[in-house]
Amino acid sequence: MATKKKKKEKDVDEYTIYDLPGVGESTAEKLIEAGFDTLESIATASVYELKELVGLTESQALKIITAAREMLKMGFLTGIEVLERRSNIKRITTGSKNLDKLLGGGIETQAITEFAGEFGSGKTQICHQLSVNVQLPEDKGGLGKGAIYIDTENTFRPERIIQMAKALGLDERKTLENIVYARAYSSDQQMLLVDKVKEIIRSKNIGLIIIDSLTSLFRAEYIGRGALAERQQKLNRHLHSLQKIAETYNIAVVVTNQVVAKPDAIFGDLSVPIGGHIVGHTCTYRVFLRKAKGGKRIARMMDAPHLPEGEVVFSITNEGIRD
Ligand code: GTP
Ligand code: MG
Repeated sequence: MATKKKKKEKDVDEYTIYDLPGVGESTAEKLIEAGFDTLESIATASVYELKELVGLTESQALKIITAAREMLKMGFLTGIEVLERRSNIKRITTGSKNLDKLLGGGIETQAITEFAGEFGSGKTQICHQLSVNVQLPEDKGGLGKGAIYIDTENTFRPERIIQMAKALGLDERKTLENIVYARAYSSDQQMLLVDKVKEIIRSKNIGLIIIDSLTSLFRAEYIGRGALAERQQKLNRHLHSLQKIAETYNIAVVVTNQVVAKPDAIFGDLSVPIGGHIVGHTCTYRVFLRKAKGGKRIARMMDAPHLPEGEVVFSITNEGIRD
């Protein structure tokens, strides 16, 4: 159990709900029972919710919401702080120089990179490769850290990781040990897993979180027009907690997304990624993949804030992702 009221020397992520003013055992229990078990959940709650669901008074609710926001530093940063934070951004190589170049040097930390494309276009292969490459030392294009792999489609294959690790001269067992794997069976579970990753990030020295695929469970569960708003709201929340984790812990987040036929397309692009504007706008980088002749793949950068749009070619080989 966290020690109460020991402010200042703590790091942002070390505060718990027990550090909130006026929150003792019994209030904490009530909060947890109502689902407000993290500072984030309280910081984003409304006074009304805490009144109705937890039974707090209005002033109590306001006090702890404000305190939670302060503890999470949900306020302003100076320009220097932003610059410092950005100077910590690191990159992970994809294994293909062409693809790295398209991404401005590799997959960035503090950002969400989305790979969207048709089946067999190489999304899952890239995820496997990155969970190996993140473990490489920094001078070899990695971060010297492990990966968290959230699999919604049951397509993670340790045998493929071994193949890729061998090709890079890495110890196979160690490489597998540095990948923390979870299978998600529902979108709620997928979101819950992301809420839980913080503990793992701290204990296992994680540099990359993968969600393959971001949208498949949402798509399967929220069917029809009527469910669209709720699905989009949930996806939005999910992506924002991922973005926050990426920034707080200087971690790279990689998600995959299928594409669906655009109903109104007559010419040009016939398919669009699932999740619409919410996914498109929240992910920092969006890369489209498609199959080309001779086992090659084409990657195209979309909507990157400071990278030129362009196309490159890469391949999926027995050794992994290469030029
Ligand atoms: P969906 O999840 O179905 O939407 O597809 P995806 O985009 O995740 O495709 P994935 O990354 O699974 O790509 C599968 C393709 O990668 C296969 O069709 C093969 O062409 C290639 N591939 C997978 N494993 C190997 C391998 O061990 N050696 C080689 N050379 N190619 C492989
Ligand atoms: Mg896949």
